[in-house]
Amino acid sequence: MAGFFGWILIHYIYNIYNEKGIKMDIKYVDVCCGLAWGDEGKGKIVSQLARDGGYNFVCRWAGGDNAGHTIKIKNKVYATHLIPSGVFFGVTSIIGPGCVVNKESFQKELTYLKHLGFDTSLVKVSPKAHLVLNHHISEDLEKQHKTQGSTARGIAPAYRDKYARAGHRVEEDSFFDKYLWDEKLRGKVLCEGAQGVWLDIDHGNYPYVTSSSTLPYGACSLGFPPQKIRKIFGAAKIYDTRSGSDPLFPETLIEDPELKQIIEKGREFGTTTGRVRKVNWLNLDKLIEAIILTGTGILIISKVDILEDLDKFKLTYESKLIEFSSLDDMIMFINYHVRNQCKYVKKLLYSDNPEEVPSLL
Ligand code: IMP
Repeated sequence: MAGFFGWILIHYIYNIYNEKGIKMDIKYVDVCCGLAWGDEGKGKIVSQLARDGGYNFVCRWAGGDNAGHTIKIKNKVYATHLIPSGVFFGVTSIIGPGCVVNKESFQKELTYLKHLGFDTSLVKVSPKAHLVLNHHISEDLEKQHKTQGSTARGIAPAYRDKYARAGHRVEEDSFFDKYLWDEKLRGKVLCEGAQGVWLDIDHGNYPYVTSSSTLPYGACSLGFPPQKIRKIFGAAKIYDTRSGSDPLFPETLIEDPELKQIIEKGREFGTTTGRVRKVNWLNLDKLIEAIILTGTGILIISKVDILEDLDKFKLTYESKLIEFSSLDDMIMFINYHVRNQCKYVKKLLYSDNPEEVPSLL
């Protein structure tokens, strides 16, 4: 009898430890990724999850300070480029081994966060992440920035050196000692994507891409097996935008009066570069392909208020431009085709609010 109660007690304590993420194992991993060309509102989704999801860690798995996350908390807007959004909500925030880190940007972001009163001791960097050095930035400015409209943050040359096995890792610079993360992930983990599917090094419109894997499988580079992934949140917008060069988004788009209004109403200017983003009507074929590629289970389509403001509701499907008389009709059309073709999608959410997505959790 005593043995039986002992067993119950052990089981009870084990569950509490596991629930709190104290036990040295990962309970599950949720991933949020972009389904387009970046700028899909991932910052909003990830910060809501970091605030309400009870995660033990929020992690970035790829890219560097080329990304731009805008987070709105109680009417205040914050922007980060490198540090994951967990830091805004008291959650340990890790820059993973697949990321590339510019020391100056990292320092600048820490100072910015400290100045705002956030606890920067929560920020951690994998010693295996690679450094972006000054010569990477100069090279990017001369090459990729001119020919492909990169963000000029040294991303392509830094990854080139990494894969040529000629790079330098964070662990080599003692400045990072205080921030190094060389432990295992445990408990509940949220992985915060940067950029989007169509900027992925393998699946994007090469060479008009970034230099890392933006799809959820890239998150496993943080050091967990794919079986740990529980939910995949996919972020999209009700219209498409592209910052940087891409033949799929010709410069002439900027002259279209309706699309021009979307730029203004939607404030489509880059968080990192300040450049005007090219805007086009939603390409539903590409969105469906991105949902399938990523295995998105919870789809969030943001900025529906911008089309409502404009009172124009258009998208392209099977290469034809289709116009709807109301937002409801457009949403019905999207829902019908997504539900028919994307078998993993369980929830389809539309958001007209820059701070909150209803029913996200
Ligand atoms: P890189 O990542 O700076 O080399 O830029 C490569 C391409 O990806 C360029 O077209 C950039 O504009 C685009 N890009 C990189 N990061 C982002 C992002 O966070 N949002 C939108 N576009 C991005």
